[in-house]
Amino acid sequence: MAQTFETRWLADPEVFAVGQLPPCSDHDIFASAEEADAGRSSLIRSLDGVWGAHLAMRACDAPDALISDPSGDGMLRPVQIPGEFQLQFPEWDPPHYVNYQYPWDGHEALRPPQISETYDPTVTCVRTFSVGEDRLERTGRAVLCFEAAEAALAVWLNGVFLGYGEDSFTPKRFDVTGILRPGENRLVARVFKRCTGSWLEDQDFWRFSGIHRSVKLIFEPKTHLADLFVRTPLTDDFTRAFLEADLSVDRPEGTVTLSLTDADGRVRLEKTFAAAAELHVREEVPDVELWSAETPVLYALRITLTDAEGQVREVARTDVGFRQFEMIDRIMCLNGKRIVFHGVNRHEFDCDRGRVMTEELLMRDLTDMKGMNVNAIRTCHYPNTSLFYRLCDRYGFYVIDETNIETHGTWARSDPEEIAVPASDPVWREAVLARGRAMQERDKNHPCVLLWSCGNESWYGDDLLALSEQFRRRDPTRLVHYEGCWMSEAYSRISDVYSRMYFKAADIEAYLKGDPDRPMINCEYTHAMGNSCGGMSLYRDLEDRYPMYQGGFIWDYVDQGLRQRLPDGSSRLSYGGDWGDRPTDWQFNTNGIVLGDRTLTPKVQEVRHLFAEAILTPDDKGVTVANRRLFAPLRGMFLRWSVLRDRESVACGETGLPEIPAGASVHVPLPYAGAISGEGETLITAHLCIREHPLLAPGTAVAFGQSRFGTPAVRAEAKPLPMTACDYNIGVRELGALLNRTDGLISLRDGLGRETLQCAPMLSLFRAPTDNDGGNGSAKRQGIWHLLSRYAALQGPELMPDGLRWRYVCGVIPGLDLTLTVRPTDAGLRFGLHWEGVAGLPEMPALGLSFRMDPRLHHVRYFGLGPDENYADRCEGAWLGWHGFDSDTALTRYCNPQECGSRRGVQVLRLTDETGHGVEVTGEDLEISVLPYLPEEIAAARHPEELHPGNKTVLDIAAFRMGIGGDDSWGAPVLPQFTWPADRSYELRFTLKGI
Ligand code: GAL
Repeated sequence: MAQTFETRWLADPEVFAVGQLPPCSDHDIFASAEEADAGRSSLIRSLDGVWGAHLAMRACDAPDALISDPSGDGMLRPVQIPGEFQLQFPEWDPPHYVNYQYPWDGHEALRPPQISETYDPTVTCVRTFSVGEDRLERTGRAVLCFEAAEAALAVWLNGVFLGYGEDSFTPKRFDVTGILRPGENRLVARVFKRCTGSWLEDQDFWRFSGIHRSVKLIFEPKTHLADLFVRTPLTDDFTRAFLEADLSVDRPEGTVTLSLTDADGRVRLEKTFAAAAELHVREEVPDVELWSAETPVLYALRITLTDAEGQVREVARTDVGFRQFEMIDRIMCLNGKRIVFHGVNRHEFDCDRGRVMTEELLMRDLTDMKGMNVNAIRTCHYPNTSLFYRLCDRYGFYVIDETNIETHGTWARSDPEEIAVPASDPVWREAVLARGRAMQERDKNHPCVLLWSCGNESWYGDDLLALSEQFRRRDPTRLVHYEGCWMSEAYSRISDVYSRMYFKAADIEAYLKGDPDRPMINCEYTHAMGNSCGGMSLYRDLEDRYPMYQGGFIWDYVDQGLRQRLPDGSSRLSYGGDWGDRPTDWQFNTNGIVLGDRTLTPKVQEVRHLFAEAILTPDDKGVTVANRRLFAPLRGMFLRWSVLRDRESVACGETGLPEIPAGASVHVPLPYAGAISGEGETLITAHLCIREHPLLAPGTAVAFGQSRFGTPAVRAEAKPLPMTACDYNIGVRELGALLNRTDGLISLRDGLGRETLQCAPMLSLFRAPTDNDGGNGSAKRQGIWHLLSRYAALQGPELMPDGLRWRYVCGVIPGLDLTLTVRPTDAGLRFGLHWEGVAGLPEMPALGLSFRMDPRLHHVRYFGLGPDENYADRCEGAWLGWHGFDSDTALTRYCNPQECGSRRGVQVLRLTDETGHGVEVTGEDLEISVLPYLPEEIAAARHPEELHPGNKTVLDIAAFRMGIGGDDSWGAPVLPQFTWPADRSYELRFTLKGI
């Protein structure tokens, strides 16, 4: 202290913390046991709320008078703390999104560590608060804590400069003893958007500034637990557990008592020591239950500090989970067992509040994740708010805790040897180490944290190596993770695991076959941008075959779709560029399996299944349920099952489940034996549902299995119907159908005689490009299919005895051999679309026909895979059965509208109005989508709000649609097994009739 703030610090990478207290563990402190019981501390005073703000575009324009002079306060604008400035004052400095190019790129040619002199939005936040004299008298030390501020913070209390700090995601604590005074106090926090730390914070996210976590005043008692480090070693056979703790006591006086209680409040350990500045405890705790994500058993550790008179002065508290994480024979093991991460990367993102997290939102995310069988979270790419780790401890999630460092833009384009940050540059080293230290010290007591991560995409060199060594030295009970060092042999030891991102299933397999020295994880995989996550099952398959493949983390959990109010009063989920922000990487920040507003996307259907903790295999007597967990039995669950014969329900019910131990399989007899005998094809579906769960609602299904046996009953041959062939049209009276010689089918009446078609069907050989199609060039390649679909002409028809045949001709593809046949039968109009392979064309996005129908038809009921959209490479999580939806709302609201809504395995589909009249499609294995838009309309829209249903229903019936891909969104193709090469022949057959 006793310093004044200097603006030049912003531009000096070696000045990143001035006047701060060292980081410490995030244990709670209370003034008494009663307070600890109630979970309410009188020692903490929140300073959150409405502050006053002064906005300046440059640091040097921030008025210093405000620091101690209240006369200008009337001019301040109200600002919510915690909060993001760009969301509260967007007209002043709008939200800005870039991926790894730095946000100033193109505006200013800066090189590390330079920062802009003309653009550094600086917000001076002011508030006053009062403190009672008695409060101060009881206080040993008063501490002011900013849980987080982005990107740099300078603080003054009562005109006295307290200190300065960078690193947007860890706490900044200042000793305010002697400065804090009885009565009114004036607190001024100045937040700078840019500092040299900005070079270290090049994460792929909105570039905000703000005070996005709480501000607190902490009244440490006369004697105080300053720091605590708990470890829980187990014996080699994992049967005995020890509590090991290092305690640092400030101003030690009387005694220090440790007591450990279990969830039932039983004391499992109690020890009293004479107070000392440093205490080390190691005690065996008999009969503990071990912690894991499946068994998140916590014990409460209380540390009671008394003064010399024996008066309780402070009760500190933290949760303890007994677990041991280690590498055994090149495999990461928890409590001795190989774990597999079914993980997600999760940004701290709220569509209304930016990075400000509420307990409600955290609970929603963790609840939804449990429902998707997610067991692990990587805090991409920075430490999260403390509450997050507490909840992960309590509800059971494994966490990779990541240091707030990313410098992607420094090396992705330029010569890394020249400007990669931090590399081995001593100028950045201390800042790098401090960032890691701040995270590790705060989070070290959380059982959920299994690995410390050195940051994301920050090249490699001595600085990160020093960070990894610092992590290991301080905490040998966890492992260290870093992805970016795989490209360097010399620095590969930065990471204890071989971590890659978007490493394809085949490459993973090749790595594992090479007898590697370290296990492998994909710290990012299955890039969930838009309609994606195709091929995810290939990664899942590796888990059972290669012990050294230990899973991965989906990129990523939530779209960074920021709610934006539009001038007409409506709102939308915006992405990069929507705020006039340039440069930008557009919708590249919308890669979530849930939308920005937390709506689950259809990608979740696949994730839930592939991450499931149980495998269900029905047979003709019941269901075998295999528990895939490592530690916890399956209990508090039941089976919901159904039996269909030839699509007709013949039995269904719910049956309780015995407790199934971890790793065990049980055959559960189900009371349908009688129902399955007989002819036809039998389909048995069983869902594993929740009866009791700390988070999930009763009835939630978390896994399913299906079996099919028998053969479908043979249906009577459809008989041809007579046609009325005239000059221009050919009618089929029994079907209410009229076929035009030039255009094909132009009329199909429903059961009430009303027209269902708006025009003749169109060829459908293309799709609205997905983000992945854009990334891998297929969007462009598909142009030819679009052209063909819209501009191929029908030639014919040729009149056959039982129907009509047309040929499609298109000048740009001379060898085109595509025929359409329509045969009227008593079952309906039999359509046939035959593609005879053509060489030299790109893979086919689809082979289908698209019917533009009257919009009154929007109720869809079908028998096929569902309930959510599914594709060739993303259909494992869908089950066969009867499903339904309303086509008016069937567009999946991917931020950037794209191909969506398709369903595979369709045998029957009815598209009707309210009265149940409309059309019926039947076929064997169709792929159908029903949407209120044409693909070109979807492709042209940049936000779902641009599309308005109500003027048509587009029924698209296909033999196949190309997979959607998802290994990444910047080049990875749809895998060959999910594509349809154009040089082979294919056939679409279906029957259509009015109903
Ligand atoms: C990775 C990066 C993520 C994100 C992703 C693309 O390279 O670590 O933060 O940018 O690519 O969405």
